[in-house]
Amino acid sequence: MIYDAVWRARFEEDASLASDLPDIPWLRRVLTRRSHRRYADRPVDVPLLRLLLGTAFSASSKSDFQQASVIQVVDRRRRDQLAALVPEMPWIGSAPVFLVFCGDGRRLERIGEIRGHRQQNGKLEGFFNAAVDAALVMQSFILAAETAGLGCCPISVIRNHSAAVAEILSLPDKVFPVAGLCVGYPAADGHISMRLPLEVTVHTDEYDDRHLAEAVDAYDRRRDARYRLPREQQRSPGKFGHAPFYGWSEDKARQATESEGQSFPIYLRACGFTLD
Ligand SMILES: Cc1cc2nc3c(=O)[nH]c(=O)nc-3n(C[C@H](O)[C@H](O)[C@H](O)COP(=O)(O)O)c2cc1C
Repeated sequence: MIYDAVWRARFEEDASLASDLPDIPWLRRVLTRRSHRRYADRPVDVPLLRLLLGTAFSASSKSDFQQASVIQVVDRRRRDQLAALVPEMPWIGSAPVFLVFCGDGRRLERIGEIRGHRQQNGKLEGFFNAAVDAALVMQSFILAAETAGLGCCPISVIRNHSAAVAEILSLPDKVFPVAGLCVGYPAADGHISMRLPLEVTVHTDEYDDRHLAEAVDAYDRRRDARYRLPREQQRSPGKFGHAPFYGWSEDKARQATESEGQSFPIYLRACGFTLD
């Protein structure tokens, strides 16, 4: 069947799809997509980048409010300043292109002023709509870029340094980074990251996670058979010890106990979001 190999690559399971489905090459491409963190020494042409940005901004937008903005970081000094915030991710500085996808709650307020209908856009609704719009634009950019042969890696860790990012990029109030994005021609094949089965992530008519534990166990085993996490990469062994079997769920459960992003709500409030 047309999709068997790519479905297995993504889920390590049989596709269980009807055999008369049409062959849509782009779907096979998306099913085998992956993030890339190492890039060839080859520039991304400016017209191509513009085409990809136009494609990305074709994403759906809540209420047609269009509350996403992208900062393309061209200036080397600013890029180095951003890269210095996260030295453990050198691809931020080395990628041929670096974009910052922002939620933009400001533009709608300014349009209200221009039209003489002032409104405050700092409530949770305004923040959430802007964040979702930015995420949709970013993912649309990623898929467009990958279709053009490029590789990307989103960088949300910059949110742990939102105030510094805002300073470096002169972000005004109510404009906040959702994620950076490294873009370039891939230097290596990379690998496909296996996803949870649809039995876990898709529900019919009502939410049902009664079989979560067994399904996650089975997923852990399938994933481990493809790429085992070495013992030395077990997270925080001082706190949790070494697990005899260390699967994805153990790794993610440990990771989720690490507090991240405490400075983000402080930043959001300082830049005008009340989040009420
Ligand atoms: C919102 C978002 C933020 C991310 N932030 C980072 C990051 O800060 N650094 C990084 O190396 N990868 C980051 N990633 C990439 C994920 O680690 C990656 O998408 C995930 O491991 C699945 O791998 P895949 O994209 O190859 O399927 C991010 C992805 C998303 C969607």
